[in-house]
Amino acid sequence: KAGTDAIYKGLAGVVVDTTAISKVVPETNTLTYRGYPVPELAEKCSMEQVAYLLWHGELPNDLQLEQFSQRERAARRLDRSAQSVLARTPETCHPMDVVRTMISYLGTEDPDEDLSTTELLLAKSQRMFAVLPTIVAADLRRRRGLEPIAPHHGLGYAENFLYMCFGEVPDEVIVRAFAKSMVLYAEHSFNASTFAARVVTSTGSDIYSAVTAAIGALKGPLHGGANEAVMHDMIEIDRPERARGWLEEKLTAKEKVMGFGHRVYKRGDSRVPTMYQALREVSEHLGETKWLKIYAELEDEMASRTGIRPNLDFPTGPAYYLMGFDIPMFTPLFVMSRVTGWTAHIIEQTESNALIRPLSAYSGPQQRSVPA
Ligand code: SDX
Repeated sequence: KAGTDAIYKGLAGVVVDTTAISKVVPETNTLTYRGYPVPELAEKCSMEQVAYLLWHGELPNDLQLEQFSQRERAARRLDRSAQSVLARTPETCHPMDVVRTMISYLGTEDPDEDLSTTELLLAKSQRMFAVLPTIVAADLRRRRGLEPIAPHHGLGYAENFLYMCFGEVPDEVIVRAFAKSMVLYAEHSFNASTFAARVVTSTGSDIYSAVTAAIGALKGPLHGGANEAVMHDMIEIDRPERARGWLEEKLTAKEKVMGFGHRVYKRGDSRVPTMYQALREVSEHLGETKWLKIYAELEDEMASRTGIRPNLDFPTGPAYYLMGFDIPMFTPLFVMSRVTGWTAHIIEQTESNALIRPLSAYSGPQQRSVPA
């Protein structure tokens, strides 16, 4: 039983529960979802298959995938009242505030707070997974002064999202790179946003509240917000020959370099090689290799100066930029994928719940009387 004398700031190194959803092994640089290596899943599986795997524990057979996809396609539409809520959020706010507000709003439209069956939680999870791309695409378009595009029932998850954003399905290289990023972002054990979702779930609260909390946690630049920060930095650097000097200035000023480092991985993030390859393919396909060169300069200089390696947000930043997304939309893309991992954890927490309530060591004034 834990004592009160040791303090584990940031819960670093603390194991708080078991999970059967994913396994991170920093020593061997491996990550598995339900036992399957994630690079293999990214190469061979669609996001629909991976969502099914995370929720059900097994990859779907053909019939299961067909039924699952039908349900996903049928749940993509945003109803009129939700559309009007989205339209009323200010365009000046960050798009993460929009997705956070919209998930919270979907909760108000769903009067059923019953957490008693896994089936009910799965149905709500699938609804959020299906409708989030419609929300993100509509927000992207209205910020560009464009009308939303309704979901296309004939297209799969990745193709449909890109179509709703850009009005056409881009080349296969772009679709594949985007789909891979979704698979890579889907799940990562007890990261800050997933833990936030589990904390909310542990009180017996509803699934929309838990996902809303998770979105709030993901927004921060030390977590999901880093993919946006990476691209802002690369644009500031602008030319590959300026990258090393820029990095030196950052490190001398003791500033954190976005897209580098990880609480768990100390020898590199297991997802980076797959996403780097996808970034390379997109760059070469579009004939725009500047960001790839800045990437290489920063990675090399950071490794030789600090030994700190890139995390997944480092390649996704420039990859999403090249795909045509506006920078503030990058973290909402992360939400679209991670909602699968969050909800798998919400279900797991519900099935074997214990209220999450740690202790603190008091460091304030001694007990005293209120002045008369
Ligand atoms: C994600 O946990 C997950 O699974 C998260 C995630 C997921 O899939 O859910 O993988 C997604 O959040 C990726 C991380 C994205 N964030 C960033 O890229 C922001 C930049 N990175 C850092 O701020 C940092 O590396 C963290 C936040 C990711 C991890 O921080 P820790 O574990 O609290 O480590 P730390 O900040 O205490 O750093 C330890 C040392 C320090 O040096 P010393 O004070 O000991 O000399 O390493 C240095 C740090 O200064 N360091 C960095 C650095 N990261 C660590 N120095 C410069 N730049 C960095 N990026």
